[in-house]
Amino acid sequence: MEFIAKSGSPEKQRSACVVVGVYDSRKMSGRAKQIDQASGGMISGLLRRGDMDGKWGQTLLIPNVPNMPFERVLLIGCGKEREFSEQRYLDTIAKAARVLNETGSTEMTSYLAELEVKGRSNAWKVRQAVITTETALYRFDQLKSNPKQPRRPLRRVVLAVPKRSDIAGAEQAIADGKAVSAGVALTRDLGNLPGNICTPQYLADQAAQLGEHYGLSVMVLGIEDMEQLGMGALLSVARGSRQPPKLIVMQYRGADDDQAPVALVGKGITFDSGGISIKPAAQMDEMKFDMCGAASVLGTLKAAAELKLPVNVAGIIPACENMPDGNANKPGDIVKSMSGQSIEVLNTDAEGRLILSDALTYAERFKPSAVVDIATLTGACVIALGKQASGLMSNHEPLARELLAAARESYDRAWQLPLWEEYQTQLDTNFADMANVGGREAGTITAACFLSRFARKFKWAHLDIAGTAWAGGKEKGATGRPVPLLTQFLISRCREKTGQRPSA
Ligand code: BES
Ligand code: MN
Ligand code: ZN
Repeated sequence: MEFIAKSGSPEKQRSACVVVGVYDSRKMSGRAKQIDQASGGMISGLLRRGDMDGKWGQTLLIPNVPNMPFERVLLIGCGKEREFSEQRYLDTIAKAARVLNETGSTEMTSYLAELEVKGRSNAWKVRQAVITTETALYRFDQLKSNPKQPRRPLRRVVLAVPKRSDIAGAEQAIADGKAVSAGVALTRDLGNLPGNICTPQYLADQAAQLGEHYGLSVMVLGIEDMEQLGMGALLSVARGSRQPPKLIVMQYRGADDDQAPVALVGKGITFDSGGISIKPAAQMDEMKFDMCGAASVLGTLKAAAELKLPVNVAGIIPACENMPDGNANKPGDIVKSMSGQSIEVLNTDAEGRLILSDALTYAERFKPSAVVDIATLTGACVIALGKQASGLMSNHEPLARELLAAARESYDRAWQLPLWEEYQTQLDTNFADMANVGGREAGTITAACFLSRFARKFKWAHLDIAGTAWAGGKEKGATGRPVPLLTQFLISRCREKTGQRPSA
């Protein structure tokens, strides 16, 4: 999709479709009023007649507005003006994109980014318009024989901004939005691919391709390398599978070599059956999404590379399957991690933390300025926070605050849970240095406690994306979260360093 920033009033636009908002009840936005006046009261006439009253979700497509250079106008109901929240704004953008995609206009000039959203700048509204439009039109039909395609899909979106002087900022926002969207799309594609296609080897190939395209260095470690490094925890999970495990290590270098990198560590379980502690059959298919943390690392690296962000990033992805097998982990087995600490595997379904523990230890060699791991780690997190927020836990409060700020800025929300020392005792066992599960209470936190024991040597934060990485039911599919959050985190770090938003 092509996005262009422009200023100027709607009655002057040569466009296939101009999009303006109408609030409940029958209250025209400023731009709708301008069209109304220039067309001799056409819109107010329709509103008076009751064709639309601006309720949330309503749309009215009007062809042939008299005296206007555009071909149609789309009125979008925005609901009550004082209830017009961030979420409403995003839903409005998505609605416009979907309607336009089906109505035969391949181009639109949208005034929606001019609608007032409390506390949000023009640049924010433009960036989110780009991301939300791309997200709304995303489809995953590469595995369908006859994918349904719109007859004349939307190809070009002109985003209006209030003043000429807003255009430069809007153009930067479009570039940011497009980069995030590209990362999100990659993450969704990888997440949506089934376990028989998206194997550890497939993820490694994707990483290599990304490296090729953007000039990142990519290294893939196999079983023997892992054995040499003593990655007994990662290897123990992989042992139950026919698919060989891969540790994918990527480096994006946007800053000087002496700048310590941010390390992103993504859980890459390409299918989680639970292993010997096998999961119930219902919805087990969704465990193909258990590599969404890994996919978000690839997506974020793509976005960073697209924007040429002046920052160094290391991406570390432990990838394997969790399957039941004669050679698989058994409850009670004790394995030795790369850190030297021993782990009693009381539940083979708590596999994510096992593979991440070795990946975290591996991250030490980059002497990172911060490490963020991203993982679909616990069902408990879905119970605690639902699909709205990712769970955030950290051993360094300023890092947690940085990520929370990025989450707010990107509207890819996260919520912090405590990581108090007192929870650590839930991992005690008589037989090893720690157990891999901590009982029913505070399952998301004890999973993070486990990881924290492998993150003592650096500033570390953990994002539990079990509730946010994919949707179930009719809307089943990967969301691409938390790529917007992570990309914003990197952008903000650059801003701090250079004192300005880096130019794309
Ligand atoms: N990948 C799952 C977590 C998960 C479950 C995410 C359901 C989204 C929906 C993870 O490997 C797992 O199985 N965790 C267990 C941990 C338990 C055994 C302590 C869980 O959450 O049940
Ligand atoms: Mn599991
Ligand atoms: Zn898992």
